[in-house]
Amino acid sequence: MSAEPLEIHLDDRDISRSLRRDVRVGLTAAVKWLPPKWFYDSRGSELFDEITRLPEYYPTRAERAVLAAQATEIAELTGAKTLIELGSGSSEKTRLLLDAFTQHGGLGTFVPLDVSVSALAGSTAALAADYPGLRVRGIVGDFTRHLEHLPTGGRRLVIFLGGTIGNLLPEERAAFVAGMRAALEAGDWLLVGTDLVKDPAVIVPAYDDAAGVTAEFNRNVLRVLNRELGADFDPAGFAHVALWNPEQEWIEMRLRAERSMRVAVLDLNVDFAVGEDLRTEVSAKFRPEGISRELAAAGFRTERFWTDPDGLFGVTLARAE
Ligand code: AVJ
Repeated sequence: MSAEPLEIHLDDRDISRSLRRDVRVGLTAAVKWLPPKWFYDSRGSELFDEITRLPEYYPTRAERAVLAAQATEIAELTGAKTLIELGSGSSEKTRLLLDAFTQHGGLGTFVPLDVSVSALAGSTAALAADYPGLRVRGIVGDFTRHLEHLPTGGRRLVIFLGGTIGNLLPEERAAFVAGMRAALEAGDWLLVGTDLVKDPAVIVPAYDDAAGVTAEFNRNVLRVLNRELGADFDPAGFAHVALWNPEQEWIEMRLRAERSMRVAVLDLNVDFAVGEDLRTEVSAKFRPEGISRELAAAGFRTERFWTDPDGLFGVTLARAE
């Protein structure tokens, strides 16, 4: 079957408006910050793909190992008719699940939701070609805003992989999980991938690789602002910093000004002192009991929790109560 036309809940004007709002809020704050979603233009998505193949970046390989081992059980246990993927990105890990669901029978529809029209157009066409008999309905939207547009009816499984849930701050995360529960019905399923708390000597290099790919990924957000908003950041004036925050149990990426700079962006002049940081990402790491506690608070019961053999990364299968 060919993929259905994309359902669009987010257009270029919405995206541009939220970028400008985020930049205004984040760059005028006492401690400057930007949300990590602005890394992912086409260059940023390529850099992230490169990150997933770095020797230091274990989450992608570890999650893939869990899914490869558990895909059949996930298909049999959930018996889902509709598989919905939030922030679908590269569909390689999704294919492990689609293969298992195809063999198990019963899955009728795959619904990837992503902010990127180009990513969705490519992945929906390829998946529709490779899985004959599967209905592929891409939705262009933001998983923090458009959950009410998810298809209803049939038994649903929502998957949110890669540890992307860790990019949300704790309050945002609670709101997201509650919104997810509200979009589902009792008996529907949620599969979520989370990087786990471990020795920072393992985590920090994953966000500060020897080849400098993550540093380029980090600086890419400044290039996005230069191109989209006509800002005049000098990306080379900022150093890449990856810091483990032991109280919050998250890794922070920052861009540190190496000299004092005044940057023109929107109608603002943003001053950076030497050594001043701009926080560009939080990537929270989880403990198994914390994950099930947060899910339970929103009305999900944890049915399974798996890790890779090295215990680096967790995948939780939970059910809406
Ligand atoms: C795509 C959000 C899961 O937090 O590990 C990779 C993004 N940032 N290297 C992560 C990322 C720096 C990644 N997620």
